[in-house]
Amino acid sequence: MSSWDNLLEGKVALVTGASRGIGRADALALAKAGADVVVTDILLESDEKSEAEAERFGPMAQVMQSTNVMYANKTEKQITDMGRRSMAIKMDVTNKEQVENVVQRVIDQFGKIDILINNAGTLDHVSQLGYQNDEFWERDLRVNLTGAFHCTKAVWPYMKAQKRGSIINMSSVAGTLGGFGQASYATTKGGLLSFTKSMALEGARYNINVNAIVPGIIDTEAFNLGNPEMNERMINRTAFKRPGKPEDIANAITFLVSDKANYITGVELNVSGGIELFTF
Ligand SMILES: NC(=O)c1ccc[n+]([C@@H]2O[C@H](COP(=O)([O-])OP(=O)(O)OC[C@H]3O[C@@H](n4cnc5c(N)ncnc54)[C@H](O)[C@@H]3O)[C@@H](O)[C@H]2O)c1
Repeated sequence: MSSWDNLLEGKVALVTGASRGIGRADALALAKAGADVVVTDILLESDEKSEAEAERFGPMAQVMQSTNVMYANKTEKQITDMGRRSMAIKMDVTNKEQVENVVQRVIDQFGKIDILINNAGTLDHVSQLGYQNDEFWERDLRVNLTGAFHCTKAVWPYMKAQKRGSIINMSSVAGTLGGFGQASYATTKGGLLSFTKSMALEGARYNINVNAIVPGIIDTEAFNLGNPEMNERMINRTAFKRPGKPEDIANAITFLVSDKANYITGVELNVSGGIELFTF
């Protein structure tokens, strides 16, 4: 059993959507705790094709690309500066073949895979039902739900063979409470919770823990692109009356994927500042 220092010493982790925000904070926290971390995203600052890619992935990706909010290579460098191994790889979670190739690359270069953080997600489709865009509905299902399925399926045989693994799915309070104007997003985040429990049941016999994090309002670049008045109302709904930090999520994840949480599987852990509590 590991000590609380270097909790993840010797582990290899893969984080999806880790170019910024919560995914980047997760990657850095896992590395700080001792893990080698593979940082993946559709947007890498070193990628010459990033502009065209961003166009393909929707308005949020375009804003982030045009304002250079892409830190996958920087994150890799920060991790290697900590003395851990890391690599930033372009990976679209909706592309099954690409996901399988990346996982194979991780196995070839790092020898194994212990931790998967299914963090990649879309947050830029907000409108009431009549205005929900059919294409974005499909995209949200593909990225948020099918993406987690592809990544889990790709790492599963390796975790199964080593009889150990830990997977985190990034849900949302929209998935537990519903979200006004968030039909597609909330549906995918709710689906991830059922996926988590099903995989926890299937993984238990191989010592694979599968858990979900349910973030509330987290102060990321993406969140700050939202309507300021709406954001303020959401923050005021939390018991703490303040947003969480990406590191709040990363700290919870670091514990949940460690051997200290060996007996925890299939849970939905709220890291939400009490937004789901009855406040008045
Ligand atoms: N910020 C919040 O308040 C909040 C609340 C609840 C849940 N979440 C969830 O946490 C996760 C991260 O949120 P964030 O606020 O950091 O948002 P974000 O937009 O900054 O991060 C999402 C990342 O996923 C990447 N991505 C998008 N499509 C992808 C694809 N097809 N393949 C691979 N990567 C892709 C993006 O490039 C980005 O780096 C998301 O799953 C989001 O739904 C966030």
